[in-house]
Amino acid sequence: MKVLYFTATGNSLSVARKIGGTLISIPQALKTERFYYEDDVIGFVFPTYCGNVPRIVREFISRCQLKADYFFAVATHGNKMGYGNVADEFREYAAKYGYTFKYINTILMVDNYLDAFDITKEEEKYLDKEIHMHLSDIIYDIKAKKEYIKKAGAKEKMFTAFAKSMLAKIDKGEKARSFIIDEKCIKCGTCAKACPRGNISVSDKVEFGDNCESCYACLHICPKNALHLKTEKSNERWRETGISVQDIIDSNNQHKS
Ligand SMILES: Cc1cc2nc3c(=O)[nH]c(=O)nc-3n(C[C@H](O)[C@H](O)[C@H](O)COP(=O)(O)O)c2cc1C
Repeated sequence: MKVLYFTATGNSLSVARKIGGTLISIPQALKTERFYYEDDVIGFVFPTYCGNVPRIVREFISRCQLKADYFFAVATHGNKMGYGNVADEFREYAAKYGYTFKYINTILMVDNYLDAFDITKEEEKYLDKEIHMHLSDIIYDIKAKKEYIKKAGAKEKMFTAFAKSMLAKIDKGEKARSFIIDEKCIKCGTCAKACPRGNISVSDKVEFGDNCESCYACLHICPKNALHLKTEKSNERWRETGISVQDIIDSNNQHKS
């Protein structure tokens, strides 16, 4: 089994690890232009953005060549109803490129969308045993090669439909232009290494380009907490338990090592 994953704060990496198999980072696959993968089972694990699929995952799907008997996907998300119609959006997008996904599910985790969520309150959610039980069910389903696509209700479909304009906005890649770098920045370059798009350069100053994924890996990983949104719910930051700074860097770094 091969599991292709994208992660900014470790939620999706943690799920991918628990599912098992050989893990392949989507940003690294794009960086090294490795697009061909074959196995009996191939899966995707990624965060939900705007009730939809992140641009980097869509880009990979549009460029890859995959061969498997069973395809599955798990979208992590942070807001109870926030998975929206991500399962169908992903299914349809993959189908456009000839892939039939037999299983697509979602899993509620800590919400790293700092514009709307306070990480301190989010962490309490993590204590919810349901999250862990739900993941065990998903792992069981995948092992059994179950066929299931998570259905969205009317409210969830509406959420994804409403959020389309926001997705189009973040797809432009300009989000980082509004990030604030405060005086605590020591120009260590950790943000640049955690960026899956290689969109940050650090010399005597930190500069953002126009290919931001809006994943917030840089905001969450900064060791000095020197990166901020203009309007963030709190200055608390998140990294999934068991996931290290190096794990995020290894997953996302676009620079030559
Ligand atoms: C730009 C952005 C948009 C997001 N949109 C949604 C959303 O529509 N619904 C939702 O439930 N969570 C949303 N989230 C939260 C993430 O999907 C969630 O925290 C995910 O588990 C993060 O995974 P990661 O740590 O692997 O990056 C969003 C996060 C970001 C940064």
